Amino acid sequence: MDGSTTPTTAPVLILLGPPGAGKGTQARMLEEQFGLVQLSTGDLLRAAVAAGTDAGEQAKAVMEAGDLVSDDIVIAILRDRLADADCAKGVILDGFPRTTVQAKALDMLLAESGQKIDAAVSLDVDDAAMVDRISGRFTCGGCGEGYHDTYKAPKVAGQCDKCQGTDFKRRADDNAKTVAARLDAYHAQTAPLIAFYDAQGALARVDAMGAIDEIATTLGDIVRRATA
Ligand code: AP5
Repeated sequence: MDGSTTPTTAPVLILLGPPGAGKGTQARMLEEQFGLVQLSTGDLLRAAVAAGTDAGEQAKAVMEAGDLVSDDIVIAILRDRLADADCAKGVILDGFPRTTVQAKALDMLLAESGQKIDAAVSLDVDDAAMVDRISGRFTCGGCGEGYHDTYKAPKVAGQCDKCQGTDFKRRADDNAKTVAARLDAYHAQTAPLIAFYDAQGALARVDAMGAIDEIATTLGDIVRRATA
């Protein structure tokens, strides 16, 4: 990371949670509300796959199987993105870190510029509801806004609320078999980070089974407290 472009006061927030917990949905709302930058390693990896980069080629099959991409690849992608000038506003990490190795690497990257994690929020959900959330998910191909067939349909059917685009996409890994593998990966490799951030005094836990707007209100309060 280029410490010269990132002020030491820039907030750093982490959203932890299994697939479908609402990390992306909430990160985008916090981005709008607080002017922070959402950094989704899932989005960065999908962009690398689409661009056919070496990292993307290596990640493609792993993501399709619902496994975690190697720490080396993900840390390198995240480090490069954090060095971009817009991240000086502060970041919401959506889907990173996902292993203890990644969490320790993040601490080191932040320390290089005198930063630290302001809050790591665990979005707590029931596994059983996640397949339903994920199987109904779609996103706008124009601006990336996320939707759900039942829980967050566009106000005008077939038209994005944000950019009025009409091109919507569903993810290749949003199928029942891959979701089960992604949940397994979460419990085995990512859930231990809840204790990791608790030990740092940075952890907040949020019941993420409620309505999207109610969860956003709770998260907004956490962000305001953490960055006051
Ligand atoms: P990634 O893209 O990060 O996927 P994920 O973690 O599986 O999370 P999702 O995007 O599926 O869910 P979300 O929590 O963002 O939920 P959303 O807000 O969309 O990663 C994909 C893959 O990339 C991984 O499997 C791995 O291979 C790789 N990868 C990424 N990062 C990595 C890393 N750090 N290390 C290694 N590998 C990595 O919501 C889901 C749906 O539910 C939406 O339709 C939404 O509208 C709806 N919804 C949201 N909240 C609610 C609510 N409260 N009530 C009802 N519906 C809701």
